[in-house]
Amino acid sequence: MRARWSGAFRPDVARMTSMASTDITPEPASGARGAFSSRKVFILAAIGSAVGLGNIWRFPYVAYENGGGAFMIPYIVALLTAGIPFLFLDYALGHRNRGSAPLSFARTGRAAEGLGWWQVGICFLIAIYYAAVIAWSVRYTFFSVNKAWGDDAEGFFFNDFLKIGDPGIDSTLVWGVVIPLAVVWLAVLAIMLMGVEKGIGKTALIFIPLLVLAFVALVVRSLFLDGAATGLDALFTPDWGTLTHPGVWAAAFGQIFFSLSIGFGIMITYASYVHEDTDMTGSGLVVGLANSGFELLAGIGVFAALGFMSQAQGVGVGEVASDGIGLAFIAFPAIISEAPAGAFIGVLFFGSLVIAGITSLVSILEVVISAVRDKFELSRTAAALVVGVPATVLSLGLFSTTSGLYVLDILDHFINQFGILLVAVISMIVVAWAMRKLPVLADHLNRNGSIHLGRWWRLLVGLVTPLVLAYVLVQAFWSDVKTPYEDYPSWMLATFGWGAAALVMLLGYVLAPAPWRSGTEFETDASIERKGDQS
Ligand code: PFF
Repeated sequence: MRARWSGAFRPDVARMTSMASTDITPEPASGARGAFSSRKVFILAAIGSAVGLGNIWRFPYVAYENGGGAFMIPYIVALLTAGIPFLFLDYALGHRNRGSAPLSFARTGRAAEGLGWWQVGICFLIAIYYAAVIAWSVRYTFFSVNKAWGDDAEGFFFNDFLKIGDPGIDSTLVWGVVIPLAVVWLAVLAIMLMGVEKGIGKTALIFIPLLVLAFVALVVRSLFLDGAATGLDALFTPDWGTLTHPGVWAAAFGQIFFSLSIGFGIMITYASYVHEDTDMTGSGLVVGLANSGFELLAGIGVFAALGFMSQAQGVGVGEVASDGIGLAFIAFPAIISEAPAGAFIGVLFFGSLVIAGITSLVSILEVVISAVRDKFELSRTAAALVVGVPATVLSLGLFSTTSGLYVLDILDHFINQFGILLVAVISMIVVAWAMRKLPVLADHLNRNGSIHLGRWWRLLVGLVTPLVLAYVLVQAFWSDVKTPYEDYPSWMLATFGWGAAALVMLLGYVLAPAPWRSGTEFETDASIERKGDQS
């Protein structure tokens, strides 16, 4: 076996296995840092992260809006030329460097550590609002049973459930949100305390098959609704003309990035917990295809249900179609009220959102926890609490008040564009051009990978993807500068939008200079390769 990395960067492990470099027993991938017990568990956990709210409530509408059936072309191009190649980059960074995002970047080049902390900041912010959406879904799973919204799903969501006030910041707590949100945080903290294999791994092992079952049942039920075919026609009828619009291509690349959970540290972190000998490229292909398969399934299920609704109301599918919060908490409740066996559809739909959400939430929290553990001398329990308690308090304080929805909407919009996409572009440029690390990263994955990363990969990751993403970003930037997002008060956009995005970017400068836990090693490429040769 390859003992190249065995305990090399972890003094505690090195101490326990002093024969590290000649050790022939299969050493857990990351020793005391935690490890997935098998490739299967890793793949399920990675699918669990990738399959999230983005697949269920974002993809169907993005596809519909951007050319329907014709959107499959930019989508598949984006998946193959940017999504999967970038997934390999994330895997290579984490698997080769055996570290959280900041440690993996620091081991790639000391000056790059800040990029990892930037990702950590992004993950922390996403986690605190993502949990709120999961909490709403928990409530709605129960509301579905007796269709608590009556015949006014929209009024119920905003007024009765969220008790929404005027845009601004208000500290009045909404107990109907506080309680499920506290429950979500308790459950997630319990998973995080249990660690990589017993917590994250087991959760994926149980919940991913359950999610597939629930979702397939939902799709099958939806396909039998009257009008389902109208919905599918609306989704899949190709509008070939859209292929010449750059915006459609931008949408495809944006969707793939968010959907695959790439560029925000998650896949770096998960890959660092995988055994040295694992075929990472083959695994990545499985994860990428599974994620897109799920997305397609969601498109079919959601549009079949929307087709039913459009027929029931005698309006076009375009009138009832929407995405995000509007789709899940307004359109779907209306469908549930109208459809035969609506409660069944409701429980499956919201239950799926909860499961898909939890397995993504744990992945994003692990980015923060593993970074804190790597940097400071903390046990898993201590790190999970140091991260989890403030996250819970902030999440409850910001998102279970009457102004929670506004803050959530702004944060989500800005952090996706000027957080995830921006850090992705910059990190690709730094790794490919400033540090020139693509060849060693490719070599690393090629040792055991079933897909050979050659020049094509360096070209895609170093040139094509950053250029396309930079284009997407510039477009997004101009549109936000020209038209303030959703007409929110400018102080709110400045604070929770631009301000939050800038704050997490600065985090890197604050945390990077702090010393690493004692004994953390930073090796040169030459010494890494030498260790590899000893095995
Ligand atoms: N791929 C995830 C999704 O589609 O929802 C992206 C994600 C979002 C992962 C939020 C984790 C998370 F907490």
